[in-house]
Amino acid sequence: MKHFTTVHDVHDVHALVAEAIALKQNPFAHRDAGLNKTLGLFFMNPSLRTRLSTQKAAQLLGMNVLAMNMDKDGWALELEDGAVMNGSKVEHIREAAAVLGQYCDIIGLRSFPELHDRATDYSEHTFVKFLHHCKTPVLSLESATLHPLQSLADLITIQSHAVKPKPKVVLTWAPHVKALPQAVANSFAEWILAAEMDLTIAHPPGMELCADYTAGATITHNQDEALADADFVYVKNWSSSNDYGKTYDDASWMLTPGKLHNAPDAKIMHCLPVRRDVELSAALLDSNRSLVTEQAANRVFAAMAVLKRMLEGLPQTQNAMQHETVNAL
Ligand code: CP
Repeated sequence: MKHFTTVHDVHDVHALVAEAIALKQNPFAHRDAGLNKTLGLFFMNPSLRTRLSTQKAAQLLGMNVLAMNMDKDGWALELEDGAVMNGSKVEHIREAAAVLGQYCDIIGLRSFPELHDRATDYSEHTFVKFLHHCKTPVLSLESATLHPLQSLADLITIQSHAVKPKPKVVLTWAPHVKALPQAVANSFAEWILAAEMDLTIAHPPGMELCADYTAGATITHNQDEALADADFVYVKNWSSSNDYGKTYDDASWMLTPGKLHNAPDAKIMHCLPVRRDVELSAALLDSNRSLVTEQAANRVFAAMAVLKRMLEGLPQTQNAMQHETVNAL
């Protein structure tokens, strides 16, 4: 595997999930896989789980890790080609990405959407530019439209609890106080459908997700109907795709124990962070139905499985900077 930015970078989703579960059972079995290799983790937006789980995964594989909050600790980045940089932006992404590529064998990047212009966000222009200029394999730590490491961890969690080959998985929209990206929901749909599970998506009218990721799912505005006989219920807010970036406030969509009257065995999932008693009731979060902590734990093994494949795909040379130095001698 060269890059990891979408489910389409994965040849066999089931095999990747199986490998992650095997790594969870024996996390110290590949301590030399990343020896003398450096992973860079660069964040343009905040993170708790993604940063620490990916760092831990890399360390379990013997990699060195460089991590940086680009938004707080780096120079203000100019993204536009041809810009005359006489304003507040200090460094162009062309130089910044190229330099980071010299320090790292694999680069992880997080870059959220701006939620102003759908075409710009869905073009993934920050990610595409970074990927082009760093000339290094890139691991998505969440892009404007997708969060594949989260979805792989979600699939590992579902696979670990499923009692039937094709469980009923429900993705239900949740209220929130601010506009959030569609990335987790798009990506969850993409991965669940790639794993050939039965997916139902419930959301209020106007909150449709991008059809590129949901083809094959049952889509309804009736949450009660959607939840009937569910095996897994994934709760997530996202802002509108049609009225782009707009939020919607309807507390009646918050998932509570009473809404699961027709799904007595349903397990509850959320990617975290979660707004308690806004998106999801505290009663459910604190119940033994909740898988949210296990999902977060599985982020380590999702990242390990992906990094291991990316390491296997690296050319058999020393890291980028050492390679240049050796060539110059
Ligand atoms: N779920 C998730 O990506 O969490 P963080 O934003 O804390 O990384």
